[in-house]
Amino acid sequence: MYLTGSEKGMVIVMGYQEAYDKLEQYGQLHVLKYYGELSREEQEALIAQIENTDLDVLSLCQKKEALNPRGRITPIEVMQLPEIEQRKEEFTKCGLDAIKAGKVGAVLLAGGMGTRLGSDAPKGVYNIGLTKDVFIFQRLVENLLDVVRQADTWIPLYIMTSDKNHDTTTAFFREKNYFGYNPDYVTFFMQDMAPASDYEGKVYLEAKNKMSTSPNGNGGWFLSMMKWGVVDKIKEAGVEWLNVFAVDNVLQRIADPCFVGATISTDSAVGAKVVKKNAPDEKVGAMCLEDGKPSIVEYYELTDELMNAKDAQGEPAYNFGVILNYLFREKDLEEIVAKKLPLHIVEKKIPYLNEQGELVKPEEPNGYKFEQLVLDMIHELDSCLPYEVVRNYEFAPIKNKTGIDSVESARALCQENHIEL
Ligand code: UTP
Repeated sequence: MYLTGSEKGMVIVMGYQEAYDKLEQYGQLHVLKYYGELSREEQEALIAQIENTDLDVLSLCQKKEALNPRGRITPIEVMQLPEIEQRKEEFTKCGLDAIKAGKVGAVLLAGGMGTRLGSDAPKGVYNIGLTKDVFIFQRLVENLLDVVRQADTWIPLYIMTSDKNHDTTTAFFREKNYFGYNPDYVTFFMQDMAPASDYEGKVYLEAKNKMSTSPNGNGGWFLSMMKWGVVDKIKEAGVEWLNVFAVDNVLQRIADPCFVGATISTDSAVGAKVVKKNAPDEKVGAMCLEDGKPSIVEYYELTDELMNAKDAQGEPAYNFGVILNYLFREKDLEEIVAKKLPLHIVEKKIPYLNEQGELVKPEEPNGYKFEQLVLDMIHELDSCLPYEVVRNYEFAPIKNKTGIDSVESARALCQENHIEL
């Protein structure tokens, strides 16, 4: 599905005075600084943006330390490789049955800005090939095609983009003929944007008629799917499970029958693929229980006590990191969607208009972006199956150009897995 310009356009209901009042309420009247210089269309675009942007979040950066208090962290049981190996046949059969029955869909989270990679293009169009073209999107589609062949059925693929990369992403898929995927089974939808501000919570301008905005994090994916009518289609089609995954892990298995089967067989509301951490202080979120409910503790929240804690077998108690590959039960998502997820305030480099009205692209972080995260959805659910996968087969994230989690490290892992580059 391709969104037309009018579908993306916003209906403007607000007038100038209401826009003024809203800005005044949130202490953001500077947004109208250039209003008198703008053409009529530009003025309308600005008013529409003011109407459609949640400015409430801006006030939160004053109390950001107190925002997300944590509960009591205790270990969670993880389904580890030996058990999975033992039950592989049973799980795979259960998963394949669900896939063949059309009950499983895949959701690619591709709305991020990929700033660490340093390319202005969407991350998925990045070419990691050495002797031929191998685009990140292509690697993901090829991984999913393995399961399409195994199950002999198309798996619906939903792709989340943002205002910043929607047109380039959809055009790229069309130009590349969806890398062999059936376009009838591909649906694009867009996530919402959030304002980006300076350290005092004053929203930046990125043009005289535009507030700086950035995608509002990967936590809003299901709400955005609802908003775009995608959830209605999912229900019509009988999809019951959604495998949500990140754009940047070029080795990950998507709609993996064994993982799907394990999650269904254990009657879990969500399955979370995890890898054994390569060091106690590795920078990944670790699966845990928080006040008795499944959760993820970020690496920077792990105290020495938690880092050194051992389980009954004498192994580190918080030893399994999430890789942003979750299988959610759709009906549970509908139940939790009304709950507000925690808001994360992240320091970033934000392009802005200076006093002279010129656009500046800062070299260093100069303010905050406001995000909700998919991992916070786990804590809203009653049960979660942390499911171990072999790290070197399934985890090759591309965050940076070089070094850890980079194009270089992902290439080496692809080669280790005999993927031609
Ligand atoms: P990251 O946390 O790596 O963020 O996203 P990012 O924006 O892609 O990269 P940096 O931090 O600017 O370098 C993890 C996954 O979540 C998606 C990304 O596209 C990636 O698949 N994501 C992130 C969204 O879909 N929307 C967002 O607003 C943020």
